[in-house]
Amino acid sequence: MQPGIPENAATITFSGATELTNEHLDEWAISILADPVKKTPCAVDNFKLENGVIDARVYLKNTYGYSDWKCGQDFYESWERNETFYQSRLEAYKKEIENDMPVYDRFKMAGDILDVGGLTGTVREFLSKDCRYVSIDPFIDAFLKTAKTKIEAYQCLKQRCNFVGAVAEFIPFRAESFDWVHMRSMLDHVQVPDLALREAYRVLKPDGSLLIGLSVEGGKSGRKAPIRLAKDIVKETLGFVGMKKYKDSHTWHPTYVNLLKLITDNGFEVKDTYWQPYWKDQVVYVLASKG
Ligand SMILES: C[S@@+](CC[C@H](N)C(=O)[O-])C[C@H]1O[C@@H](n2cnc3c(N)ncnc32)[C@H](O)[C@@H]1O
Repeated sequence: MQPGIPENAATITFSGATELTNEHLDEWAISILADPVKKTPCAVDNFKLENGVIDARVYLKNTYGYSDWKCGQDFYESWERNETFYQSRLEAYKKEIENDMPVYDRFKMAGDILDVGGLTGTVREFLSKDCRYVSIDPFIDAFLKTAKTKIEAYQCLKQRCNFVGAVAEFIPFRAESFDWVHMRSMLDHVQVPDLALREAYRVLKPDGSLLIGLSVEGGKSGRKAPIRLAKDIVKETLGFVGMKKYKDSHTWHPTYVNLLKLITDNGFEVKDTYWQPYWKDQVVYVLASKG
């Protein structure tokens, strides 16, 4: 192992006989790679790379919902790149960590974890050192765009992260590979939520667990307060008439009941529900297992 390269960094020889250190994937994650469509085992050199990151993204470009998804994703990525906004947020990031802590005190993820739509893997802040973690996300440049203040607040962002460019609908890992699949604040960003859950089911081990965190329409009661309803109508109208700041980057807005239906329709059994205290009954975490 060369000095400066973490012990768990894999050195891979790519098909062009170029030797390079893959800074984004450990050996164990490489050993479970699969073709995202055929689901058959794959090697790193079966994928293209973008800035050294495996690009396993598969898009449904001619299917209903793609243009809305693309529009939302472009908006989300440009928003994340807004460094002037994010650089001033150190205290907000620290507060975010504090507010998320109770969730992961309750749900102790362990073993091999796949974070779907996991971006730069900030959930690692709450994982024990012996977990093995990999994030997939279509925002393939996410690491290049991380705000310095976010890195300052999150200790985990100072550590190398296993990351693959991929979407929830086509997961580039083999069946029954993970103890946990984590999906936080992302199911309302995907093009096809059912497919995302089917894929989560496929890659989970038989006794694996799924943890979904989501802001749900109408919160715990399922009913929107009139003031909230009025605000949403105004925002929607402003977004519609071209005020980008108000454009909604989400693809759907499930209620808690809609979310439970999605989970159970795709073969999971709901085991626990937790309303994140900070968000006052608006953000729910649902734990499910393979039924
Ligand atoms: C609000 S962010 C949440 C990021 C992260 N899960 C967290 O909690 O910090 C939503 C994420 O969903 C990702 N995303 C959008 N469409 C997706 C898809 N089809 N499959 C997987 N991730 C997707 C976005 O790129 C973005 O990183």
